[in-house]
Amino acid sequence: MTKVHTPVTDKMDFFKESTPVQLAEKYGTPLYVYNENILRERCREMKGLVDYKNFSVNYSAKANSNLELLKIVNEEGLSVDAMSPGEIHAELAAGFTADRILYISNNVSADEMRFAVDRGIMVSIDSLSQLDLYGRNFPGTKVALRFNPGVGAGHHEKVVTAGKKTKFGIAPEMMSQVKEIVKKHDLTVAGVNQHIGSLFMESDAYVKSTDSILSIASNFESLEFVDFGGGFGIPYRKSEGQKRLDLSETGRLLKQNIDRFIKAYGREIKIKIEPGRYIAAECGIILGRVHSVKENYGSRYIGTDIGFNVLKRPVMYDSHHEIEIFREKGSVDISKDCVKIVGNICETGDILANDRELPKIVEDDIIAVLDAGAYGFCMSSNYNNRLKPAEVLISPDGSDKLIRRRDTLEDLMRNFEL
Ligand code: LLP
Repeated sequence: MTKVHTPVTDKMDFFKESTPVQLAEKYGTPLYVYNENILRERCREMKGLVDYKNFSVNYSAKANSNLELLKIVNEEGLSVDAMSPGEIHAELAAGFTADRILYISNNVSADEMRFAVDRGIMVSIDSLSQLDLYGRNFPGTKVALRFNPGVGAGHHEKVVTAGKKTKFGIAPEMMSQVKEIVKKHDLTVAGVNQHIGSLFMESDAYVKSTDSILSIASNFESLEFVDFGGGFGIPYRKSEGQKRLDLSETGRLLKQNIDRFIKAYGREIKIKIEPGRYIAAECGIILGRVHSVKENYGSRYIGTDIGFNVLKRPVMYDSHHEIEIFREKGSVDISKDCVKIVGNICETGDILANDRELPKIVEDDIIAVLDAGAYGFCMSSNYNNRLKPAEVLISPDGSDKLIRRRDTLEDLMRNFEL
């Protein structure tokens, strides 16, 4: 195999014994490939973030809920959050016990709340209207409340989930109504949580928001936990030298806020965080094949099988994912081309990487899209009746195994009465 352009995966020893060309031949493309070592390493980094004995990490499974990956996260001793009965279902199947799952509901029916309550899973509620619904259905139980700390952060306006322009959380100004509803239904507020948004590379806003949520928390006497939420960013521009989030400084600042709160609160409680992207993003790569190279009115298009049905982030948020190039055999022309890497979906917006400077790409090359482990497969779809990709795991011993098979044409038909 010829490595045409592989600045990042070489350093990470991502593919171990396999090569992208072999994996593409064995399993077909597009293909999600995960590296188990990297997943475990990220779990451990998050577990060690804050030096506080009751600190724990809930992996936010929305980032990637592949059953095998969830099992690894469970083995690493993390807990999880869930956004839907479907996520709860997968988490229980992966071996998480009910006490290690938090259901962070948003605009759900009483039946969905019941799905969690019946299984002994704590529900977090994020509006007065849902709190009243919860109270009417489950009086006398414990509940968690999601507040909006007033500070938001995120890589795109669509993923900022606190502050004044979002549907999420209860505004702290509504505290007296919250307390009335809690009293009316004899509820116990056992937790307060927040999530300010997704992807920060500087921790200032996050740390500031923990101050707000901790001061909100001091309104409740019977707390078992405060959950600071997720949002920890990863460097998507590694080959340009982008720095990692400074975890030790973030942990130190969080510890100061926690210590101050615990002292004032008068007893120890659990402090949780909810990272999704940080745990899953860097352990995942998508392999795709180049099927055409074409010039169209001055632009050079590299046509691949990675459409936005496979990876939605570039189309939805203008997200940048680095691209590497592998060739079965042949020489490398290192002079750079400015190219648009596109997929096979019938929309002009189906662009994976726009105006990228890369060494010359030819038909049949394998391209790798980096940092695709979070919000990759889970946001993929069957648009254009395309088949969802297979997923493969590279184990620490270097072997590869299929952890989700590719969709089949029968899968596309299975919900129809034929
Ligand atoms: N907790 C809650 C309540 C959340 O809504 C989220 C993410 C997280 C935790 C985890 O956030 P993370 O640590 O992964 O930033 N699809 C977007 C990201 C959406 C995030 C949604 N909520 C993307 O591809 O960038």
